Amino acid sequence: MNKSEILAWLLEEDPGRLERLWSLADNTRRTHVGDAVHIRGLIEFSNHCRSRCHYCGMRSERKALSRYRMTREEILVSARGAVARGYGTVVMQSGEDPGLDVEWLADVIETIRRETPLAVTLSCGERSEYELARWHKAGADRYYLRFETSDRILWKEIHPSGRKNAPHRLDILPGIRDLGYETGSGILVGIPGQTWSSLVEDLQSFRRLDLDMIGCGPFVPHEDTPLGRKYLKPGRAGSKGEQTPNTDLMTYKVMALTRLLCPDVNIPTTTALATINRETGHLLGLRRGANVLMVNLTPIQYRSLYEIYPAKEGIRESAEEQLDRVSVLLAELGRTAGEGPGASPNYESRRRAMTSQIAR
Ligand code: 5AD
Repeated sequence: MNKSEILAWLLEEDPGRLERLWSLADNTRRTHVGDAVHIRGLIEFSNHCRSRCHYCGMRSERKALSRYRMTREEILVSARGAVARGYGTVVMQSGEDPGLDVEWLADVIETIRRETPLAVTLSCGERSEYELARWHKAGADRYYLRFETSDRILWKEIHPSGRKNAPHRLDILPGIRDLGYETGSGILVGIPGQTWSSLVEDLQSFRRLDLDMIGCGPFVPHEDTPLGRKYLKPGRAGSKGEQTPNTDLMTYKVMALTRLLCPDVNIPTTTALATINRETGHLLGLRRGANVLMVNLTPIQYRSLYEIYPAKEGIRESAEEQLDRVSVLLAELGRTAGEGPGASPNYESRRRAMTSQIAR
């Protein structure tokens, strides 16, 4: 697919033609990654963050938000919960926590890998090469870092880093992959300032980066952030002209196109998508390209503090309610829960190529 074909799909509004996009994406998903829906247990283990991203409710300047870091034992209890429910992976996510001790996290990862059959995905923001290498050595299998937008000027504006010459995440991801991680990234759909052409470029970057996991969710405005305030200002004109919309429909289009461009990757249906469409967000996401679902295992007392955006889906849901919701969803889809760690075919074939090179 070239630029103009991608753009034409993004702009498509005819329901009949969109049905064609959904079925192309669904068929490609079935052929390349099968009917299993891999369920990942999410542990949001720290909301401390040194970053000041203009879109995110956990930015360091939000002094009103109380901060927490789960203990080793709390994390292990959550991880054992994932095993008990039959999940194959835990995703350990945090803000860019400056107080995160490299050896402490290495020990937690080692313990999970030693005591459980779980794969471990980390998502802890931009970390030093030393930390990333140490955690991979400790047994972390995957790393997830969204580049959010490929528009470098917009990125600088909304992600003031405080570090001189900080590289763009697009330039960090190849190093993460080279460390041996199964590598994930993604974008924010409809972030203010995102143009149609930059969204096309985002999709093409997915292919170029040879990613293994790609997660995309809509921008959900948070009233106590610079971008949220701008977005929620009374009288603000809706998305028009160059600005892409942050709707669920636009998110499905991005997910479907991602599946067509990168058929062998794992694609989650995101919490942000289910937040803006509680009724059918996950269902439609999984019918339009996605094959991964995240379930929140963060202890309930911390969930509302992991406040990336307001009214996040599932923050009060008990474990039983989650289990029920997932089984209803799978039954409705006519699909089954994936077994085992559920690595992406893209990663599996890269690993095979690497081992055969070493053997030669
Ligand atoms: N709306 C939706 N998603 C957001 N994220 C951060 N802020 C928002 C927001 N306001 C996403 C980013 C980040 C991920 C953890 O959460 O894409 O990578």
